[in-house]
Amino acid sequence: MTAEARSTDFHDGGGASAATADAPGHALYKEAAADRLGFWAEQARSLLDWRSAFTQTLDFSDAPVARWFADGTLNVAENCLDRHVRAGLGDRVAIHFEGARGDRQTITYAQLTASVQRAANMLLDLGVRAGDRVVIYLPLIPEAVVAMLAVARIGAIHSVVFGGFSAESLRARIEDAQATLVITADGGWRRGQVSALKPAVDEALRGPGTESVSRVIVVRRCENAVDWDDARDLWWHEQMDAAAPEHAAPAFPAEQPLFILYTSGTTGRPKGIVHTSGGYLTQAAFTHRTVFDIHPERDVYWCTADIGWITGHSYVVYGPLANGATQVLYEGTPDEPQPGRWWDIVDTYGVTVLYTAPTAVRAAMKAGRAIPDARDLSTLRLLGSVGEPINPEAWHWYRSVIGHDRTPIVDTWWQTETGAIMISALPGVTQLKPGSAQDPLPGIVAEVVDEDGHPLEPGGSGYLTLSEPWPSMARGIWGDPDRFVETYWARFPGRYFAGDGARIDDEGDIWVLGRVDDVMNVSGHRLSTAEIESALVEHVGVAEAAVVGAADDTTGQAVHAFVIMTAEGSAGLDRAAMSTTLRDWVGQRIGAIAKPKSVVIVPELPKTRSGKIMRRLLRDLAEGRSVGDTTTLADPTVMDQIAAAM
Ligand code: PRX
Repeated sequence: MTAEARSTDFHDGGGASAATADAPGHALYKEAAADRLGFWAEQARSLLDWRSAFTQTLDFSDAPVARWFADGTLNVAENCLDRHVRAGLGDRVAIHFEGARGDRQTITYAQLTASVQRAANMLLDLGVRAGDRVVIYLPLIPEAVVAMLAVARIGAIHSVVFGGFSAESLRARIEDAQATLVITADGGWRRGQVSALKPAVDEALRGPGTESVSRVIVVRRCENAVDWDDARDLWWHEQMDAAAPEHAAPAFPAEQPLFILYTSGTTGRPKGIVHTSGGYLTQAAFTHRTVFDIHPERDVYWCTADIGWITGHSYVVYGPLANGATQVLYEGTPDEPQPGRWWDIVDTYGVTVLYTAPTAVRAAMKAGRAIPDARDLSTLRLLGSVGEPINPEAWHWYRSVIGHDRTPIVDTWWQTETGAIMISALPGVTQLKPGSAQDPLPGIVAEVVDEDGHPLEPGGSGYLTLSEPWPSMARGIWGDPDRFVETYWARFPGRYFAGDGARIDDEGDIWVLGRVDDVMNVSGHRLSTAEIESALVEHVGVAEAAVVGAADDTTGQAVHAFVIMTAEGSAGLDRAAMSTTLRDWVGQRIGAIAKPKSVVIVPELPKTRSGKIMRRLLRDLAEGRSVGDTTTLADPTVMDQIAAAM
């Protein structure tokens, strides 16, 4: 049976709160098709509180940089916090926090609002002003959410750097953003151990280009010993205690930058994707509410992403809080201290909606169904997937073992640059197809095009493009407007293209096939081949490097590196030792997530006569296939030499 033939209806017992066939979804599609801009204006007005109303929905006169709701003003943090308290929802739980070691905090909307007001005053006391950049390098703890919202509240711009990134990656981001303040912690808990963060900040700030940073605020989390610079470092708890408790949220224009989030591209240098306020929050709130069919008064929602990624921004912080939802925030890994921790959390808090990545589903599959089968999981009514294509096998396991064959699954396609979900099934509306991201959401226009940018008929495969602007679209790359145009808008004029291939099936549903550029997707995280290659060649022992992403059972893709060593580097080291050294080197340069699964020392790389490395052939080897067409190689014998080295 093919995956497509096994499509599953949302209505086959989606649980008590699954939507029915006359769900608003149908009307939303019609409304948006009849008047796309009117539809988004209506979402912006009904989902958010505006300090002054906007009169203009979209200004695309400076395309591809869009301005949405530009003459309106609002405060993003107030929309996520104070207004819920004013509406009488102060006692509603905003966050059920569970620390890796089992410590718990229940944080209501009133409490979260109070913390964010205090933190806003703390930032103002330290001289942070609207437009300044604040780098956040924290574990997944409530202070991370408070920090993001406090920065937003005063109109400053946060740039969250995932705690797994190295000191050097942190340094490069601080330099690019010219941040004035860093918020970090002594460390975070990871599998019973302290994973220190402050030392990486110290190291980053010893590096060049970081003179803009005048202060470092440190959250005390693990009480591990840390070095201290009295002129620069401050404890979060002391500053919070000293700050005034109340802060009236000022209004900012809808296009006030909200955050910069760095993501990997096809070059060695990460890009700082810039998102702004009104349009971003509108689409984050709309998609969170609609795709997950959220009923804030009764749902317990859990998105497992870290705030270091876009999913954590839009579906842990901004979307759920704008909607006044109750959510779980969990610091640790799925299997600490033992397998099944995630499923215990689902049962403990009565999670109704779970949003995670296929790689986590595949890891749970590997661990075996006995683990989730020993839990109840009956509160779950909707499951979501994000980050990479979900293979039908994982889809079926997710639905049957975690969802007990009752829950719909929404497979959501989007990117750091799109800011919010773009393509997904809608609960109660869409006939589900395992493996397909399915339909553009209401108000979104996505098309699969051929090499020349012509839309394809059903049945065709080509490039996934977005042909109309959307509210949460990136407004640019920080400090590099030309790169924004070149990267996303040049390949197909008039269309946004960020590198995914896709197929459109006979029913017009979209199947995302993965990246068509040199970007890898490991455990749902984006990594650039070029970035890892440049880290490798910075090592004295490496003359040349080629990196490929090869299919992997658990992580979707895994990083495989092929390197030619210099005479200097190879002296006295055997291949195994050199491989280990280089894996660790990449971990140090970029972060543990970028460590290659294998580093193969080779005598030569496969190159065309013009010197271009044929990564396709290396991928064949790494995936254990027979090597494809080698006739364009300058030296066809090189593949045998590489195979012998593996
Ligand atoms: O290749 C697509 C894949 O992840 C890329 C975006 O990565 P990032 O900006 O890190 O954001 C990840 C979380 C939104 C896309 O270009 N991707 C994301 N979601 C899906 C997906 N591929 C297939 N199906 C998805 N649902």
